[in-house]
Amino acid sequence: MQYKRYTVTSALPYANGPIHIGHLAGVYVPADIYVRYLRLIGEDVVFIGGSDEHGVPITIKARQLGVTPQEIVDKYHNIIKQSFAEFGVSFDIYSRTSNKVHHETADEFFRKLYYKGDFIEKLSMQYYDEENKQYLADRYITGTCPHCSNEKAYGDQCEKCGTTLNATDLINPRSAISGNAPVLKETKHWFLPLENYEEFLKEWILVGHKDDWKTNVYGQCKSWLDQGLQPRAVTRDLDWGVKLPSEIEGSEGKVLYVWFDAPIGYISATKELTSDWEKYWKDKETKLVHFIGKDNIVFHCIIFPAMLKAEGSFILPDNVPANEFMNLEGDKISTSRNWAVWLHEYLLDFPNKQDELRYVLCANAPETKDNDFTWKDYQAKNNNELLAIFGNFVNRSMVLTHKYFEGIVPALGELNDADKVTIEEINLFPSRIAKSVEAYRFREAINEMMNLARLGNKYLTENEPWKVFKTDENRVKTVLNISVQICANLAVVCEPFLPFTATKLANMLNFSLPKWNEAGTIKLLAENHLLGQAAFLFQRIEDIEIEQQVQKLLDTKKANDAANVIINPAKQNIEYDDFAKMDIRTATIIAAEKVAKTKKLLKLTVDTGIDKRTIVSGIAEHYDAENIIGQRVSILINLSPKNLKGIDSQGMILMAENHDGKLCFVAPTEEVKNGSEVK
Ligand code: 2FM
Ligand code: ZN
Repeated sequence: MQYKRYTVTSALPYANGPIHIGHLAGVYVPADIYVRYLRLIGEDVVFIGGSDEHGVPITIKARQLGVTPQEIVDKYHNIIKQSFAEFGVSFDIYSRTSNKVHHETADEFFRKLYYKGDFIEKLSMQYYDEENKQYLADRYITGTCPHCSNEKAYGDQCEKCGTTLNATDLINPRSAISGNAPVLKETKHWFLPLENYEEFLKEWILVGHKDDWKTNVYGQCKSWLDQGLQPRAVTRDLDWGVKLPSEIEGSEGKVLYVWFDAPIGYISATKELTSDWEKYWKDKETKLVHFIGKDNIVFHCIIFPAMLKAEGSFILPDNVPANEFMNLEGDKISTSRNWAVWLHEYLLDFPNKQDELRYVLCANAPETKDNDFTWKDYQAKNNNELLAIFGNFVNRSMVLTHKYFEGIVPALGELNDADKVTIEEINLFPSRIAKSVEAYRFREAINEMMNLARLGNKYLTENEPWKVFKTDENRVKTVLNISVQICANLAVVCEPFLPFTATKLANMLNFSLPKWNEAGTIKLLAENHLLGQAAFLFQRIEDIEIEQQVQKLLDTKKANDAANVIINPAKQNIEYDDFAKMDIRTATIIAAEKVAKTKKLLKLTVDTGIDKRTIVSGIAEHYDAENIIGQRVSILINLSPKNLKGIDSQGMILMAENHDGKLCFVAPTEEVKNGSEVK
């Protein structure tokens, strides 16, 4: 079907943390490429983004930090909005769901369904904190996991064993607010009976979109539909979110479930953008596309469409090109573990290198399976592809044209067969790239874009203008004309992927970017057109820059390990007499050597204040003998002697183990004589 316009949405990120490369690779880079391409082919498109500012995690974070939820969302909304703008994500609007227009729009949507009788009301028993007089969302309840005995499981999930839980499954449940045991209390909620939309969804997705939706998206939908749909609660007992209409009985203290209001946020943002918003949401000739990550599939393909269908006046998405996840250095990206490359930090660490990251994230996009971002790969893609192929070709073309023709586009002379083949190939690129973009195959598209630079490099290398100039200046004119035309073509077709580079390149060529359909020819730059100065499009990324980033991640890992160290439970009580039997003294190591043919043992001579004795200690993997002479220690001196590898060991050095397994000396922190009793 031929569409008149496009509404492109990108998942509204929760405003409880900054944006990281996983968000970018999964959602915002592909969405931005798609939209920039649509604009270049002259389509009418709105690109919608915004912060998702409701939901329980935001209230939990606020409570933990002792601030209001509004303060949390204000902080992160601003960080997110600014980092997107700097990164070149070209939203027509970046809104937020705490806006008045959103509350009004979501309220209106809910009312329409409510008064049509589309919801069912259900009473259920839910945990309640009597001290704080509030119902507890599942995340607000902790207790022991019935599967793995983790004592810190949440009411919706045990993060240790990964099991999805109901709050009532928890053993010994506790309110995360007061720490008290919650009580079960009756509460009323409104449910959308998804089962009533099952037939429509089956027909629309399983039949209608069998061939054009991505396999991962289609597969998830099919599995949901095959299992049969159940009524889904669209309200929550919470004081943060879109309030239920007050005239409804039992509405007090209740808000819309965040997944009910968030997708309506796409509509509210469009309303905020233009008074002409309805055509983007209600006209069948508008193509609606949702860019999301795989964890959002059910909400965008099943629940939101059921809501839209119930409401009745809105169009449904034509496609939902969800991506899989991007991991980081072999580990799942996690906001709570700080395991991420944060966009706002990247922009500070790598100023003016937006396109370098866009390139790597797109060339490596997790389109069909989870993928891994590594700093080594980032460096390699920059140095060996962007710089060595794209940058190098443009630079050679520019420099040679300046060298031989003062930067003036030379006239095209007679074409040989190789020229003709090259020109024919140039002609194919725009439509080939377009085909991939339109099919949401962005990796394929960006690779094809780079193939045009590869073609340029090959053409220059094969025609060797630097050699031919001495004998045939006219031939060089033709070769460089074609070369700079390839540069101009590159400026156009790289724009969706590398918008900053496109602008730089257009400035270098001293021309304004034409529309997409004007590319594919060698007529973009007129004969005698004066080019601008040659400048480098990309810079080498040095090892040191990568090492710094890797070190940052290693530091995070260390901090996480330290935070996760398992503290063993206390041993059984003993009597003082048991303790008094141990004779522990302060001492100093005065000599140390490795015990031959062992990995772990050091033979130490220690001054105990009473005598100088030998102790064999299993610390060789943690300390070099020469570095511990003079070290103060605590020793159990009346442990029965033991022969270890032929050496009589007379006592034991006390050691503590740190979070990564390293043994550390336990020594007095102030000046204490050798032989002083530890008691
Ligand atoms: O998964 C998330 O980050 C959600 N905040 C996405 C919401 S998308 C839309 F429905 F608003
Ligand atoms: Zn568990």
